[in-house]
Amino acid sequence: MKIIVINGPNLNLLGKREPEVYGKASFEAYFESLCLKYPSVSIEYYQSNIEGELISKIQEVGFSYDGIILNAAAYTHTSVGIGDAVKAITTPVVEVHISNTYAREDFRHLSYIAANAKGVIIGFGLKSYELALASFL
Ligand code: DQA
Repeated sequence: MKIIVINGPNLNLLGKREPEVYGKASFEAYFESLCLKYPSVSIEYYQSNIEGELISKIQEVGFSYDGIILNAAAYTHTSVGIGDAVKAITTPVVEVHISNTYAREDFRHLSYIAANAKGVIIGFGLKSYELALASFL
């Protein structure tokens, strides 16, 4: 089983960025523990701060991988292009968010991805990624 985690803008700063919202752990440390916990699954990780690069990665993996765990971060709420990319591919996408976006500002309540995702997991901290992974198993 081949799964990829795709993280969008500013998620490279996890651990340093607003720790009261996103926690104190870096994504790299969390990702390492996730891979160790699920040794039979091939899990890749890709992060970009650039919208077009995220779209290119979704297109690249979106016809051959078994699942995409996508946290498009702020682009979730703005990017028709990422939403269209998720709609265009055949690999199922689970949208994840670390924070509970519905408990935050109104602009975070809109997702251009959710309508074309297999499911959405929101607000469980970094554990959201593991729950998304479990949905593919
Ligand atoms: C986020 C929520 C987004 O609203 C925000 O822009 C992020 C992170 C989350 O994982 O909680 O960068 O996607």
